Amino acid sequence: AADDDEPKRPPPPSRTQSKSRNNSLNARTSPDDFEFGRVLGEGSYSEVRLAKHRATQQEYAVKIIEKVHLVRHEKMPVAMAEKNTLVRLGTGHPGIVRLHWTFQDDWRLYFVLDLARNGELQTRISRLGSLSLDCSRVYAAQIVDALDYMHSKGVIHRDLKPENLLLDDAFRIKITDFGTGKVLGSADERTKTFVGTAQYVSPELLEDGETSKSSDLWALGCILYQMIAGRFAFQGLTDYLTWQKVKRLEYTFPDGFDEQAKDLVQRLLVRNPAERLGAGLPGSPNDMQALRAHTFFASIKWGTLWSDPVPPLE
Ligand code: ADE
Repeated sequence: AADDDEPKRPPPPSRTQSKSRNNSLNARTSPDDFEFGRVLGEGSYSEVRLAKHRATQQEYAVKIIEKVHLVRHEKMPVAMAEKNTLVRLGTGHPGIVRLHWTFQDDWRLYFVLDLARNGELQTRISRLGSLSLDCSRVYAAQIVDALDYMHSKGVIHRDLKPENLLLDDAFRIKITDFGTGKVLGSADERTKTFVGTAQYVSPELLEDGETSKSSDLWALGCILYQMIAGRFAFQGLTDYLTWQKVKRLEYTFPDGFDEQAKDLVQRLLVRNPAERLGAGLPGSPNDMQALRAHTFFASIKWGTLWSDPVPPLE
């Protein structure tokens, strides 16, 4: 029952009748090809486990989703969207968790992903209190570079936050969790009901239910603020009160917050999505190049961003 590209349908009757629609995702891989290890993370409908591919001894993170939960909670579209966005992103970017294979058995779906051994950025911020300015700068640059790629492929993440920013062996960023992702131009039922995480949600999503690439730039502003300040830009006692602050753009900078970082945050946390730095179409004056050219990034070497060492986190 390992053949799959279409989790909704029963497995095809025989190997010869099954076709993989994407050669890069070998449909004949199965759970038996892996030795499963410890749990790396847990979600409401899934868990992520360390797994070693027996044939190559290569280690991966495998997201395992129980079908019964998906069906019971009507989350099948979420799983499909996650796979579709990951497939669309392809093999392409060091800052984005890559999907190597998908398969299923009678009970579960399996997504074999890049392993990011150093866990979530959120854990690091919590442990350290905040990150050094140099590290925050490099992480912001890595997020910008990955977003540029992602957006060029027509994918919006919609729930960017430090829990979804993993750290690899070299402590570089890998964006994960595309269950909330949206492929531009696709009809998507989930769009109408989607609400991200309160501290990172954009005002347009709260007010009109609209999301665009620019919503990911809002989240970037919130994340940059948090890495440096060690606290959320927008935080109320309840999600409702947090949303009120987001809608009113009610946030302040702590004393000593770097001036260039402050300027960048202020150009990202802008109410009108079209006016956020980086939100313009490629080639326009407000495109991602303009974001890369911000003075906060003056010391960043964009060409070697994914091979240069990351500065100390603290
Ligand atoms: N937790 C969730 N996804 C992960 C991944 N790809 N690598 C390591 N830990 C994870």
